[in-house]
Amino acid sequence: MSMITLALSKGRIFDETLPLLAAAGIEVLEDPEKSRKLILPTNQPDVRVVLVRATDVPTYVEYGGADLGVTGKDTLIEHGGQGLYQPLDLRIAKCRVSVAVRDDFDYAQAVKKGSRLKVATKYTSIARDFFASKGVHVDMVKLYGSMELAPLIGLSDAIVDLVSTGNTLKANHLVEVERIMDISSHLVVNQAALKLKQAPLRRIIDAFASAIPAPKN
Ligand code: PRP
Repeated sequence: MSMITLALSKGRIFDETLPLLAAAGIEVLEDPEKSRKLILPTNQPDVRVVLVRATDVPTYVEYGGADLGVTGKDTLIEHGGQGLYQPLDLRIAKCRVSVAVRDDFDYAQAVKKGSRLKVATKYTSIARDFFASKGVHVDMVKLYGSMELAPLIGLSDAIVDLVSTGNTLKANHLVEVERIMDISSHLVVNQAALKLKQAPLRRIIDAFASAIPAPKN
């Protein structure tokens, strides 16, 4: 019996993956918000969950530190997705990647003149591709969090960040000026593991597929 290791990040992805795991008969035996453990046992002796930073999920799966993982499309694009089998859009943890600016900033004017736009983001790859497709020159400032602060402090003209309810933008007097792409979480699988542990991995992939939430209109 070989061990199956699933990489998840704490928070929304962990919470919204639980019903999919339940469909596979898998129940995580510890609450990551209460425990400091990084390896969580499940009710299945041959399945365990490892907790990693959201941006590290594709890396763990790529190098076989985990057999499979759940990761946002945003994270997957920034990682590049190399070496990963991506069988399912799980349609969970939905949000969007958008451009936002201060509510008193004239974005239309800033991108029209052919002048340079200063953009702060942790999504440098998504932002670069997006502004290149618009023909807008950007000076990129790489950040790792709290992007909303950058335009308020004068570090950048714009940010590229995840937007869900829009409450964080509103609270910081920022407005969404472009939607770049819709985001949801995807299942990623290590390609070698898929061959070596085919039966147990297929069972989990099929159970996840059967439990994906229906699209909402
Ligand atoms: C994301 C994002 C925004 C916020 C948007 O942060 O970076 O700050 O959510 O959500 P809202 O539109 O519903 O206000 P998250 O909480 O995922 O953590 P992060 O800062 O580590 O990305």
